[in-house]
Amino acid sequence: MQKLFGELAIVTGASGGIGSAIAEHFAAHGACVVMTDLDATASEEKIAEIRPTGADVSFQKHDVTSEESWCELMARVGREKGRIGIVVNCAGTFGNGGQPFDSITYSEWRRVIATNLDSAFLGTRAAVLAMKEHKRGSIINIASTASYIGTRAGAAYGASKGGIRALTVQAAISCANHGYGIRVNSISPGYTWTPAMESKMIVEFGSVESGKKVAASRNPLGVVSVPEDVAHAAVFLSSQEARMVTAFDFVIDGGMLHS
Ligand SMILES: NC(=O)c1ccc[n+]([C@@H]2O[C@H](COP(=O)([O-])OP(=O)(O)OC[C@H]3O[C@@H](n4cnc5c(N)ncnc54)[C@H](O)[C@@H]3O)[C@@H](O)[C@H]2O)c1
Repeated sequence: MQKLFGELAIVTGASGGIGSAIAEHFAAHGACVVMTDLDATASEEKIAEIRPTGADVSFQKHDVTSEESWCELMARVGREKGRIGIVVNCAGTFGNGGQPFDSITYSEWRRVIATNLDSAFLGTRAAVLAMKEHKRGSIINIASTASYIGTRAGAAYGASKGGIRALTVQAAISCANHGYGIRVNSISPGYTWTPAMESKMIVEFGSVESGKKVAASRNPLGVVSVPEDVAHAAVFLSSQEARMVTAFDFVIDGGMLHS
């Protein structure tokens, strides 16, 4: 069953592991998908894979940290494709994790907060502005389990993702109270095996095999999470099945936070 038939979705960070899986699953569920990123290469490869299925997928270069870039993107997509019903703010950076708290520089802090949190504010606001006149829409912000617990990802990353969860709740309740008909939710993945995560784990643990063993051992289910696990949740949250779900953080971590 196509859960997103007729919807128009924007997915940022779509050249990355999780964004690309979300875009692919949205397309498989009948949505028209605009994939955005600073880097076109991986998105263009994914589009070449998806298009033969008949899905309407395209790429827009877009800097999520720039207010101007958001204005241009929303205006262009609205003009060329129609009513925007779904926005997923997935673009992000892990920052230089692993260093002691007192060696985080202010410029590193600013870079991570700008890429992860400022972008989620700009993206959520742009989406609300585009959706409110139609009185419907779903916004999903990708947070992280690093917003709940101390991890090697470090303070800048954890704080940016905690800010995303708080921003999501505030935006969700404001939209509900004002009768906008827009739902705003977040997803907090735990360790998820994307190309970005793979590179980090190889540096830390020497090989893909050792990295995967460590990733699996970090959650009670003992399973390595993959981008598709996050994509399934994004499809659900964007669909009518989740019409009563807003201000929710969907944790996908194999039970890690409760162990
Ligand atoms: N992989 C994990 O274990 C994990 C866990 C929890 C949360 N997350 C979050 O999920 C999201 C995706 O993670 P991923 O593992 O797929 O990472 P990734 O590095 O593969 O993808 C991130 C994408 O964001 C893009 N991007 C970065 N800065 C940008 C900017 N200024 N404008 C536009 N695009 C920009 C990058 O080019 C990249 O394609 C991130 O927000 C990350 O923090 C990942």
